[in-house]
Amino acid sequence: MTTLRRILIVDDDPPSQRLLQVRVRAIGCQVTVASDGHEALAAIEQELPDLMLLDLEMPRMGGMELLRTLKQRGVDLPIIVITAHGSIDAAVEAMKEGAYDFIPKPFDPKHLEIVVRKVLEREDLKRDIEILTEEADRRYRLVIGESRRMNDAVETVRKAAPSKASILLLGESGTGKEIFARAIHSWSERKDKPFIAINCVGLSKELLESELFGHEKGAFTGALSLKKGKMELAHGGTVFLDEIGDVVQELQTKLLRFLQEREFERVGGTKQIQVDVRIIAATNRDLATAISQGRFREDLFHRLNVIPVTLPPLRQRPEDIPALVDHFIDKFSKEAKKQFSGISQEALVSLTRYDWPGNVRELANVIERSVVLGSGPMLMPHHLPASVLSSITEQKSDNLSYRESMEVHRRSLLLAAVDRAHGNRAAAARSLGLHEKYLLRLLKSLGIGG
Ligand SMILES: Nc1ncnc2c1ncn2[C@@H]1O[C@H](COP(=O)(O)OP(=O)(O)OP(=O)(O)O)[C@@H](O)[C@H]1O
Ligand SMILES: [Mg+2]
Repeated sequence: MTTLRRILIVDDDPPSQRLLQVRVRAIGCQVTVASDGHEALAAIEQELPDLMLLDLEMPRMGGMELLRTLKQRGVDLPIIVITAHGSIDAAVEAMKEGAYDFIPKPFDPKHLEIVVRKVLEREDLKRDIEILTEEADRRYRLVIGESRRMNDAVETVRKAAPSKASILLLGESGTGKEIFARAIHSWSERKDKPFIAINCVGLSKELLESELFGHEKGAFTGALSLKKGKMELAHGGTVFLDEIGDVVQELQTKLLRFLQEREFERVGGTKQIQVDVRIIAATNRDLATAISQGRFREDLFHRLNVIPVTLPPLRQRPEDIPALVDHFIDKFSKEAKKQFSGISQEALVSLTRYDWPGNVRELANVIERSVVLGSGPMLMPHHLPASVLSSITEQKSDNLSYRESMEVHRRSLLLAAVDRAHGNRAAAARSLGLHEKYLLRLLKSLGIGG
């Protein structure tokens, strides 16, 4: 038991009250005592105990009535009832009303101790699971994005999550396919069962086959013992086949069979093994081309493609950038113990104009780098890499007037110099062959403070 627990004893008979009290203290718990149902309710309202020991026979509000009241109010409190010898019916009735267990009177101290410990341990476990689930929820709530395109994708997977239907996640590198796969799992009833990811890139047929389906002892040289595959280990849960477009062809057939029958043999085995797994696959490849070139089985594609979800590249949803930037500044500041708390308008404009070939992963890397190398509280343009800053020039200069283009060029030239000098303006001025004061004035005229 990790912390000191408070146990509420509800009993109208002083001698048996005292006896219970002594025993409970001996287990190392704190005690509150009540002599009837009303007192018990008051005590529960004042400080929710971790466990209640309840005598069923009491004047005024009796034990059974108290149980019903608590149930009605939805009070989440483990209860052990203490029943007169021989009144099993009452014990059963009490369990129906939500009691966790019962102890017959006169009670054996050892028995009492075992039951109390069991309940408290169960409560500990429940709490641990709650904390873990909350943590996981928080992590996978990380599907950040308010854009319409992103909302559409989230909406689709939210709807699909509770079913067992296979989901195919498509999208460029770094668009969040893995984060989505984990989110789907955590939004399904399988969330307490394993989520097992397997990356199909670069694995030979033999290796991938034994990874997925396991092998029997002696199936091949080096198979010294039986090994269960990921499909078997994930029973009841979700298997994430990452980079499915890269699965070697010989294995595509075996995967197809598995998807059709939901059963397989371990490598070197003959026994059919059945498992219940949800399949989520992902790829950044163009599967249509792969199919037309005969590199990917069309029937396998259809099996996987029950619910296709395409994650839009970041350049098609610049409206998501501010929220992502906030999230990453927060995250990396905490991780690096830095004091960053926000971003300057100027820097944010640069980030939203850049076209992010590496998508969210690249954005995360840029922010992490800026936070780790720079100092806060605001993330300024000079914290950002030159490649991001100069994007302004390349992108939007098509429809600009001469003056506007010149300004854009000037801005990116100056920002790049400041960036190369790690924010040191004197050094930046030197590298440009300008006086520092002049550089400062230029920056100011461009609205680049800080
Ligand atoms: N919508 C999002 N909200 C928060 N973080 C995101 C989001 N999308 C992606 N990320 C982050 O970006 C990084 C890349 O995401 P992820 O690994 O899911 O991409 P991917 O599509 O699987 O890429 P690849 O095809 O290269 O494997 C991760 O660090 C992830 O946490
Ligand atoms: Mg991935």
